[in-house]
Amino acid sequence: MTQPGYDALADQYAAMFPEPYQTPFERHAVEAFTEVIRMPGSVVDVGCGPGHVTHDLASRGLDAIGCDPSAAMLALARNAYPQLRFIDDDATLTHVDDPIAAILARFSLIHLPPDRVDAVLRSWASRLRPDTPVLIAVQSSDTPGPATPFDHAVAPAWRWPADELSRVLSSAGFDEDWRLINRPDGVHRFPGVHILAHRRS
Ligand SMILES: C[S@@+](CC[C@H](N)C(=O)[O-])C[C@H]1O[C@@H](n2cnc3c(N)ncnc32)[C@H](O)[C@@H]1O
Repeated sequence: MTQPGYDALADQYAAMFPEPYQTPFERHAVEAFTEVIRMPGSVVDVGCGPGHVTHDLASRGLDAIGCDPSAAMLALARNAYPQLRFIDDDATLTHVDDPIAAILARFSLIHLPPDRVDAVLRSWASRLRPDTPVLIAVQSSDTPGPATPFDHAVAPAWRWPADELSRVLSSAGFDEDWRLINRPDGVHRFPGVHILAHRRS
């Protein structure tokens, strides 16, 4: 699998983001997600990039696996965390065979054309047990309506108004539990949203 933008810029990306989280807000959102994981199985970090968040999940005692379509990002992740499992896969999770206890997708679904996100979420819903939590983080927008493209430095990307992401989650079979919204700041050009949802029973 390839992800041309991230394959070309993996080293620069990893140098720009040496830490798993850019703000305490992001760290706390992921921590709150980990605290609602109840089922046995793997916690899949979708679009894991350099693997540092996968490592954080594992260091919390979770059976974390990372997947990413970029061979260069996977190489960085495997080199930094040889004890962890990283799989060549995209958001479809075609190559993840494990029972899944939870899914985290931080700033990776932004790279799917919006009309593909619905199908991906439906495929997750079809294989997850009821109540399985998913946490999705994306660049957002205060303007209601559909996801809109933005000038991401690495690959084509779309921003999602929080209500639109919640609507697509709901139509795919997930119920929102909470959302956290951060305002633009020194490191974030746009508002961001983390939505925690669970597979509907
Ligand atoms: C902005 S980085 C985020 C990395 C990591 N999730 C983090 O929070 O640090 C986006 C990642 O999504 C991956 N990606 C791009 N297209 C994807 C797709 N269709 N499915 C899954 N991941 C994808 C990229 O290769 C890249 O590693």
